[in-house]
Amino acid sequence: MNLEIFDNNEILIKNISDKFIFLLNKIITEKGKAYIALSGGNTPKKLYEYLYTNYKYWKNWHKIHFFWGDERCVPADSPESNYGICNTKLLSKVEIPKENIYPIEGTVTPEISAEKYSELIKKHLPEKNLLPRFDLVILGMGADGHTASIFPPQIEFIESDKICEAATHPETKQKRISLTGKVINNADNIWFLLSGKNKAEKLKSILNKEPKSKNYPAAHIAPTDGNLIWFADKNATHLLQ
Ligand code: 6PG
Repeated sequence: MNLEIFDNNEILIKNISDKFIFLLNKIITEKGKAYIALSGGNTPKKLYEYLYTNYKYWKNWHKIHFFWGDERCVPADSPESNYGICNTKLLSKVEIPKENIYPIEGTVTPEISAEKYSELIKKHLPEKNLLPRFDLVILGMGADGHTASIFPPQIEFIESDKICEAATHPETKQKRISLTGKVINNADNIWFLLSGKNKAEKLKSILNKEPKSKNYPAAHIAPTDGNLIWFADKNATHLLQ
């Protein structure tokens, strides 16, 4: 379990951005292209902004295939849309062929969207362990221990045999589409991005393997044969010994 701690959110975002470019350069040198799944939330939003500001002229943007680990069932132009935010902050402003960007449909029946996205992933991604293989999956973690859009009341989606599930936010009842735990864990690289004191209690529980952490979906993210790194600022790690 690799844990990298940074003094504050800004330094966290800078380091993740630099490592993002370094890792993808390496993958693209080896394989010619890279398949990644991005996250929603505020932390990744700052990552997209930093990547644009500091890497807008990076030579390899067009060699990346952009997917999402989860999406809200909203129109792409909604301020809630994970794709919409990433597209506005980054994708629409750098050299990426449109066909390399694979948004999750947010305006069709969730179950149909989950099925269609599963088919799209199967069609485009290489396989490993008989499952689609992402080179990199970037995740956040909610204060309740959710990750992607796998929330504690639907923790069974961690072990689902599907590629994507139609999920529901436990408080807002907002419909979501989420990669399942098996597909996330099949990735070569899984990065958690954590910032803020509201993550600290769950992070401590998960890293200390406390019994109650088994109720948190983020605790079940454990790569089959890839690398997991937790990137966190000191606000998120202040409860760790
Ligand atoms: C989403 C995200 C979600 C997010 C966490 C953490 O669609 O909301 O995929 O899983 O990563 O809620 O969000 P923050 O980074 O904003 O704390």
